[in-house]
Amino acid sequence: MTNANGQGKMTADKKEIESQESKTERLVAGLREKFRAAFHVEPAFVARAPGRVNLLGEHVDYNDGWVMPAAINRAAYLAAGPGDAGVVSLAAVDLGETESFRLAELDARRSLSGEPLKQWALYPAGVAWALQARGLAVDGLQAALTADVRGAGLSRSAAIELAYAVAWQKLGGWRVAPLEMARLCQLAENKYVGVNCGLMDQFASACGQAGQVLVLDCRTLEWETVPLPAHIAVVIADTNVRRELGSSEYNLRRAQCEEAVRLLAAPLPGIRALRDVSVADFDRHAHLLPALVQKRARFVVEECARTRQAVQRLRASDVAEFGRLMNECHLGLRDLYEVSCPELNAMVEAAQRIDGCYGARLTGAGFGGCTVNLVAAPAAEYFKRELETQYRKVAGRQGEIFVCQAGDGAKVLSQ
Ligand code: GLA
Repeated sequence: MTNANGQGKMTADKKEIESQESKTERLVAGLREKFRAAFHVEPAFVARAPGRVNLLGEHVDYNDGWVMPAAINRAAYLAAGPGDAGVVSLAAVDLGETESFRLAELDARRSLSGEPLKQWALYPAGVAWALQARGLAVDGLQAALTADVRGAGLSRSAAIELAYAVAWQKLGGWRVAPLEMARLCQLAENKYVGVNCGLMDQFASACGQAGQVLVLDCRTLEWETVPLPAHIAVVIADTNVRRELGSSEYNLRRAQCEEAVRLLAAPLPGIRALRDVSVADFDRHAHLLPALVQKRARFVVEECARTRQAVQRLRASDVAEFGRLMNECHLGLRDLYEVSCPELNAMVEAAQRIDGCYGARLTGAGFGGCTVNLVAAPAAEYFKRELETQYRKVAGRQGEIFVCQAGDGAKVLSQ
């Protein structure tokens, strides 16, 4: 129960943080053991890189827009140490698989045994490739990976990339700024793994700060932080649904945005991305676009405007208006950008009906995955329970719902 001054909530919050901390300790201890079992030595260190949740500014990072993510207290953990010269040997603890490859043969995307690299190993291989391309020393490595950032929509892949990047940084004794590290990991994902993502996920995993929402201008790469108001809880709700068509649809959305820019450049010369188009200009020229492209572009143009407004609202601690903008964003993602799905809609609609919820929307790329909810802190426990019940009733499946703490970015843990 919560009393009027929110004390009940404080205790519940504290309990949740403590239980998450002891879970993390157990997870790291278990990971060290797996490392020892796989490589017969102690790991030299454990690197940790968080997942992220995005509060607003969805599908705009590849349109040069503004995003508002926070790093979360769920992460990828990598127990690591030096390996044989030029060789990377990996254990994917959660999959029960291993893989090895040579750093001199990254372009071949082949394992030591000559087979094509397993899909999951493309991420560390891609990171090694991007770091090498930047002239940074990348040495032989042995490592065991586990992650408690599961499901979709919380950037597990970016967390994994950053964990490897931080491990190679530690082993190589060099140092690059977190934002630069994020860009190298994005390069790995774009050019080596072949997923055309924007910078947001890697940025949040690299640059996260405890208690802060990050605001990134995806064109200038300038960024700042805005504190999350203390009376607010950010609640993540995983629908436990994942649509397979996710990455092909993602690439299609990007292509549609690019087409919109090409067509709008006739009346609006000088625009380089949808970020450059105001809502008023868009309204004037939208008729030049094919119907589907028009819907996609309208969402992005409006989302850019919404995000700029939302930054001001958050600075002013106006969570009611911030929440309203989140709700609006979900409608756009559902009806214009069409990246939602019935389970995400059910989760969002159920959340919006619960007392204490300021705003709810899908977070991340969509097509399944998670929603993000802005909730009055004293109501968070009630909200969690109620949402779980409502979602089970409407969607006929179990969701995973948790209060998240905005945390720090990727780093090597102290021993
Ligand atoms: C994925 C991508 C990000 C971003 C989001 C949508 O998470 O990796 O770059 O485009 O989708 O906002």
